[in-house]
Amino acid sequence: MDRDELRARVAQLRWHHSIDLGQGIITPGQDNSPRKLARLGLPESLAGKTVLDVGAWDGFFSFEAERRGARRVLATDSYSWNGSHDWGDKRGFLLAREALGSKVEDMDIDVLDLSPERLGGTFDLVLFLGVLYHMKHPMLALERVASVTGERVIVETAVDMLSTRRAAMAFYPGDELGKDPTNWCGPNPQAVVGMLRVAGFKRIEIVAGLRPLWFRLARAAREKWRRGFGFWSIARTDRIVVHAWK
Ligand SMILES: C[S@@+](CC[C@H](N)C(=O)[O-])C[C@H]1O[C@@H](n2cnc3c(N)ncnc32)[C@H](O)[C@@H]1O
Repeated sequence: MDRDELRARVAQLRWHHSIDLGQGIITPGQDNSPRKLARLGLPESLAGKTVLDVGAWDGFFSFEAERRGARRVLATDSYSWNGSHDWGDKRGFLLAREALGSKVEDMDIDVLDLSPERLGGTFDLVLFLGVLYHMKHPMLALERVASVTGERVIVETAVDMLSTRRAAMAFYPGDELGKDPTNWCGPNPQAVVGMLRVAGFKRIEIVAGLRPLWFRLARAAREKWRRGFGFWSIARTDRIVVHAWK
């Protein structure tokens, strides 16, 4: 595909991820995907590994796993791929895969339907990034994720209830988190770790924890100014990255 054609096709779509497609073209996603990647602690080499990216959307992290040498990558999603909301659809993933000459596989499947039977086995590494807080049934979702994890899962998630020492989880019956009615729960870090343990993971490490208060306040001010979010609804939350091994 030549540069002008790629540029025109990219411009027709709504993007979540910022994917470098080469030829000087980066998809105009609202997500700062490289910055998120830098916090993940994703192994530099995934040579020989099988990787499952749950909730892959435009596929930034699937393509990155492939770039790091994974022998097989499966990207799965349902909500943003089915095109029935204003979140875009699967065309971004398909165009990025074509432009990158990627062999990443794809499957439309809900998190709660994940199983070794449906996926044809387990995966060495599972990416569960930005999905947990979209789950109405977070414990069940982590059990489904654990069922398809061979070695390690990386969970990146929004967290809430940060002043509570006990494992606790906020429930969002409306659009309390980020004005987004698809956000259902805000566990605190203790709850994320506890749920992963209950789901069957033996070793659990928070590799990117809570940022300092000044960072959270600055982020809340920016989001209020840019997107009209309630200041405290953002300031009382953060995002963490957890690795858990079977
Ligand atoms: C905030 S985005 C995160 C995308 C990507 N993983 C990342 O970290 O940038 C949440 C993704 O989870 C997907 N998702 C939400 N609920 C889902 C469900 N029940 N089953 C499968 N995917 C779901 C959405 O379609 C969306 O692509």
